Amino acid sequence: MAVRDLEELGLLLRDYRKRMNLTKAQLAQRAGVSASFVTYIEKGQRRPSLTMLTRLMQALDLTASERRALLRAGGYQPMGEIMPRLSDLSEQLAELPQPERDELIEEFSRMIGHWRELRHKRVRRVVIPIAGWQPRLLSPEQLGKMLRPALEETALAGLNEVILVLAPGKVVPTLKLPRSLKVRTVVQEPQLGLGHAILITHGVVGDEPFAVILPDDILLGEGRNCLRQMLALYEEYRCSVLAVTGVEGAADFKNYGIAQLGKSLHENVYLVKELQEKPTKGRRSGLTIVGRYVLTPQIFEALQVTTPDKNNEIQLTDALNILLRRQRISAFVYTEKLFRVTPIKILLEQLIETLDESQPERLEQAMQITKEALQALIALRA
Ligand code: G1P
Repeated sequence: MAVRDLEELGLLLRDYRKRMNLTKAQLAQRAGVSASFVTYIEKGQRRPSLTMLTRLMQALDLTASERRALLRAGGYQPMGEIMPRLSDLSEQLAELPQPERDELIEEFSRMIGHWRELRHKRVRRVVIPIAGWQPRLLSPEQLGKMLRPALEETALAGLNEVILVLAPGKVVPTLKLPRSLKVRTVVQEPQLGLGHAILITHGVVGDEPFAVILPDDILLGEGRNCLRQMLALYEEYRCSVLAVTGVEGAADFKNYGIAQLGKSLHENVYLVKELQEKPTKGRRSGLTIVGRYVLTPQIFEALQVTTPDKNNEIQLTDALNILLRRQRISAFVYTEKLFRVTPIKILLEQLIETLDESQPERLEQAMQITKEALQALIALRA
């Protein structure tokens, strides 16, 4: 969005406000926003979301043409311009032969159907998958400690139900739960990847938007509010939200999901253009996906049709790419402190791969070292 447009938006807003003899604080109060937010907009330093702009417009009692001018300056298309295009579309539909018409109507209903469904749905649940091989090496107490930061984030985000995805036969973690939280468990029988772990929670999550926390990414300090901020973005844009962060070294490309971002929606919030799971070749740009997601329920349909990768795992990132064809997805750039267990995990995986199965004692020894390393890590955080 050009700075010039934002400046124009600021000037227009100030003129309309003065015309009504309102101070910034009075306008802010009428619109239910903060006074500093009004100041930022008037200075051309911030682009309001459509919801915020609409609130300001309502508080200002504008004419139709003034509303259009404000919307355009804010980079939004005035309704009055969209409606004629919709009626054109409807006329074009009427001219099509019936089978094509029906097909288009179906497609269109599917595309806009989720808006109707999601309009009133709030996120209540968080899925936390811990069915990988590392959690299996831990005792219930250690698993409980590992989960503690994730549960705190959940409570901070105001969610009240946790769905743990556990490996079969796995001990249930000993959890010290914040009072408001309820926990349910789902068992992932075959180990078919993160996407599969999410897919099998469909029955418990239902057709509702939900959050996902991967406890391998530990968010510290202010960062513990990441999910809470992502939920606010979901409420505003009604689309899936991913957390992303900068790439630290070339190895990040092959170790994480990579997001290419497009248009900016807000400070630190962008639309996702394309995603790739751990790309080994090709373009070296983009940001890495952090293990925090808010997902619309349509992800379940996408997961159903996601082709497994070369390791026969269903990747959440691949399903998100499928979802991207139907819905927009936004990305929240996480800039706070982040501690990632992934590089350690990769080292351990490489170590285990180099071991020879004909030497079970060495394998046993390596597993023991791995277990101790993991336990030491958890003790550090406890
Ligand atoms: C998963 C996701 C990946 C993401 C990462 C974050 O990978 O598939 O896109 O970047 O979590 O930690 P995993 O760590 O399960 O290999």
